[in-house]
Amino acid sequence: LRIGVLVSGGGTNLQAIIDAVENGKITNTEIAVVISNNKNAYALERAKGHGIEGKCISPKDFENRDEFNKVLLNEINAYHLDLIVLAGCMVILPPELISGYKNRIINIHPALIPSFCGKGFYGLEPHKAALERGVKITGATVHFVDEGTDTGPILLQKAVEVKESDTPEVLQKRVMEEAEWVILPEAINLIANEKIKIGV
Ligand code: GRF
Repeated sequence: LRIGVLVSGGGTNLQAIIDAVENGKITNTEIAVVISNNKNAYALERAKGHGIEGKCISPKDFENRDEFNKVLLNEINAYHLDLIVLAGCMVILPPELISGYKNRIINIHPALIPSFCGKGFYGLEPHKAALERGVKITGATVHFVDEGTDTGPILLQKAVEVKESDTPEVLQKRVMEEAEWVILPEAINLIANEKIKIGV
């Protein structure tokens, strides 16, 4: 399975994928490229450290959004990827990419969809909302990306306990460690071994 990973920040989810490929938890898979919309994303350093091609394609470097969308789509198509993985990706994807890769783009969301998802629910927001609502269980979701925000078919979810003393930062860290870094590699491995069908 040839995958491309789209990132924007620290890349801890990317690191979990790299580690899983290297330690055999993910089989039959090659990370062909890591693409960031942010040139300072530490995720690019992580890719470089593991000999994986990394590149920055940022909307800031283009006259307008259409230019960025066109270049991003062409660059991605050139890698002949089977699957695109959004791992901490904060950029709005071109509609042509979503339609061109129907059910071949997956995303990790730091909450149990349909809770705490949709526009604005990224970074710490899902965790702040979970604490404000007083839920006892939260977690993470891997889902296919469609035209909506966090609205595509769900592949995997993993629950995480919310503790009385949690701050948004502490809860985010637990959700990443106990859920995101587990189910994103697991989803990729299931796809790579045809336990989950893609592109249909
Ligand atoms: C995390 O909050 C993760 O839940 C979300 O993006 C943020 C950064 O992830 N998907 P990463 O460390 O860049 O993988």
